[in-house]
Amino acid sequence: MITIAIANQKGGTGKTTTAVTLAHRLAMDGYRVLLVDTDVQGHVATALGLDKAPGIYRLVQWYQNLGDLLVIPARENLDIIPSDKTTEPAKRILASMDFRERILADALEELAEEYDVAVIDCAPSVDVLHVAALVAADWLVVPTKLDYLAVDGVNEVLASLAEIKRRSSATPDLLGVLPTFFDRQTNETLVQLKTLVNAFGRHVLPPIPVDTRLREAPAYGQTIWEYAPRSRSVVGVVNGNGTVVGGYAQFVARVKERL
Ligand SMILES: Nc1ncnc2c1ncn2[C@@H]1O[C@H](COP(=O)(O)OP(=O)(O)O)[C@@H](O)[C@H]1O
Ligand SMILES: [Mg+2]
Repeated sequence: MITIAIANQKGGTGKTTTAVTLAHRLAMDGYRVLLVDTDVQGHVATALGLDKAPGIYRLVQWYQNLGDLLVIPARENLDIIPSDKTTEPAKRILASMDFRERILADALEELAEEYDVAVIDCAPSVDVLHVAALVAADWLVVPTKLDYLAVDGVNEVLASLAEIKRRSSATPDLLGVLPTFFDRQTNETLVQLKTLVNAFGRHVLPPIPVDTRLREAPAYGQTIWEYAPRSRSVVGVVNGNGTVVGGYAQFVARVKERL
């Protein structure tokens, strides 16, 4: 099993959208996928048309030998460990436990025979679950908005990645920085994209265009592959010289090179 964490300490950068979109596409393409929601908001479940549920709370109980993991089928080939507001007390319990940063790695090891890929959607915070997600991950994807703080945000995630590598035997690598809310009409977007490329070079993935369809889809409990699979956020946009850039289809193809 290959584990991919989707992380950025900043909120609203497209983490959950990217996690759900990636996980569902891989499932549609025949991979057996587990999607883990570590954010107290529980939006992974709602984006898939399911109820929020105490998946992380139950995970912590499982880690204390007090019960079983809560894994819910979401689509063909796609299961989720959901989250809800009980993730907050779960984090407090976890914070006082030994080996807390191994919780996700150990749970995924337990499930390794059942899945080909695990995707972890991180919360916009640096807490015990954020560390646990990076410890469990083989690959890290950092979605980032193209605003003037983008480089700072990515650097913060990379700093915690370096720290975790230094302190543990975990060896997650940066799969890529994923520019989101790409709007080729605005100058700021283009300037910030150049800045990102200057800072992170080949690690910068093709950008995801800004697309209202992506905002609408969760309201119907559908992923973009169900709601609007031909929209610009999937197929990308044509740039000045006539080539198509970005979109989740290209992103998924780049991820598959690592599976
Ligand atoms: N490329 C995009 N274009 C337009 N809206 C987007 C895009 N990506 C995400 N969104 C919307 O922006 C909001 C924040 O995205 P989300 O994935 O929840 O970010 P995060 O998980 O990083 O907080 C959501 O309402 C989502 O539907
Ligand atoms: Mg989120």
